[in-house]
Amino acid sequence: MTVKIEDRLRHAELSKKVITAEEAASLIQDGMALGLSGFTRSGDAKAVPMALVERSKNEKFKVDVYTGASLGSDIDTIMSDAGIIGKRVPFQSDSAMRGHINNGDMYYIDQHLSITAEYLRQGAMKGVDVAIIEAVAITEDGMLIPTTSVGNSPIFIKTADKVIIELNLSSYPALEGMHDIYIPDNQGERGPIPLLNASDRIGTIGIPLDLDKVAGIVITNQEDSESAIVPPDAETDQIASHLLGFLRNEIKEGRLTEELAPMQSGVGSVANAVLHGMLDSEFKDLEVYSEVLQDAVFDLIDAGKVKFASGCSTTLSQEKMESVYHNLEKYKEKVLLRPQEISNHPELIRRMGLIAINTALELDIYGNVNSTHVSGTKMMNGIGGSGDFTRNSRVSIFVTKSYAKGGKISSVVPFVSHVDHTEHDVDVIVTEQGYADLRGLAPRERAALIIENCAHPKFKDALNAYVEEANARGGQTPHVLEKAFEFHTNLAKYGQMLTPEPEEVK
Ligand code: COA
Repeated sequence: MTVKIEDRLRHAELSKKVITAEEAASLIQDGMALGLSGFTRSGDAKAVPMALVERSKNEKFKVDVYTGASLGSDIDTIMSDAGIIGKRVPFQSDSAMRGHINNGDMYYIDQHLSITAEYLRQGAMKGVDVAIIEAVAITEDGMLIPTTSVGNSPIFIKTADKVIIELNLSSYPALEGMHDIYIPDNQGERGPIPLLNASDRIGTIGIPLDLDKVAGIVITNQEDSESAIVPPDAETDQIASHLLGFLRNEIKEGRLTEELAPMQSGVGSVANAVLHGMLDSEFKDLEVYSEVLQDAVFDLIDAGKVKFASGCSTTLSQEKMESVYHNLEKYKEKVLLRPQEISNHPELIRRMGLIAINTALELDIYGNVNSTHVSGTKMMNGIGGSGDFTRNSRVSIFVTKSYAKGGKISSVVPFVSHVDHTEHDVDVIVTEQGYADLRGLAPRERAALIIENCAHPKFKDALNAYVEEANARGGQTPHVLEKAFEFHTNLAKYGQMLTPEPEEVK
């Protein structure tokens, strides 16, 4: 693609502000908070963070890094390995960074993705000193057109002292017109957000810039990383099929029609596979109102199943990136990208009555869900937007395989080792074994149904024995507290959740 900078940098005054990535990085001081564009490996600021890492080879400093969500291009790996991050907010999914967080080398705030903007607006967390935002263009009237994600970029630009723009010439000009930027007023002075349907446009096509705050524009040329999801397998196909069974029953009971309701689907391989399962279903004219638009959403658009998809980011495999980004004109009528505080806004999720589908690491017999902490202590990725959607949706569904690590771990446990989503917010659980609809069930009823329909057969006896002992002790939500974490303590001690037979213990 031959690109003329003047086609992308169309504002006369701003076109005089081009600087190098090194010059931009030199504006950053020890202790500053940076607001980086980027959401699930899409639309991340790339060149200035890398130049900052280079600078750290000769100079000691730390910065706090705020983003939309996870970053691509190994930026989280390289920055955390360089030891320059003091605190990271609000989401990451990088294995090297995970190691640094769990070793205590850096701090991490695992935050609902809709809330960061509100905290910044309120001044409830350290403000952004420098926003570093990727753009596909800067318009004649001084608006920044984001690339493949919007994330938190509008609030970073609005509240930062300085703004550095990475104008990425490898990004696709047809992205212009695909964003809808609406920035709510301060709480207490805010009216209803005027969005009734996933396809509504309520804002501008770009983020308004305060010209005095723009400290420099860096010209870049690096594409986004591909997504890291793995393709569906037999078990994720079974999960999809049980979920479709649940939705069909909702239609039969008159609670939904074949158009369903706007759908949100979480990140990860399981959530992507579940949406894929809809390709061969009878459902039609679907709407997606989600956070991340993964491969499956575009497959459903291509198949004519999804009529509109709204998100705050795309995250695609290499193959899908080529077919989507080279045919953006085709998708423009059917896809919108919004700020994450709008894609994940509780007011809108409740108003539209979303079907929310998110993934659990583990869940307990009463329906509490842990999506983030392995064995209650080690951070996996973060809560992301799952809490925003789960708490406020029409029906909140959690999907997971019933076991992990070759059967050593049961995803159904007596008591979750960390709570992200409480029993009050979780409506339906789906594993490859079946589904449990918890709505209208009391705790004791839930326990029986979850074990019967969702637990792996290998763990059923141990779970039922726990419930029997707990019920004998009584209570609204019966537990045997001294044994509630036995699955987890067994895992730490024996490498498996079930108590081994004496002859198995070496
Ligand atoms: N204990 C320990 N490890 C577990 C586990 C458990 N109970 N359950 C799963 N795992 C491991 C898997 O073995 C796998 O490990 P591997 O990468 O070494 O193979 C890993 O966790 C991922 O599990 P997988 O089954 O492949 O699911 P996924 O890719 O769909 O990810 C989550 C699942 C929960 C980690 C992921 O969905 C997530 O981070 N969710 C929270 C954020 C969120 O929901 N955002 C969406 C809002 S829009």
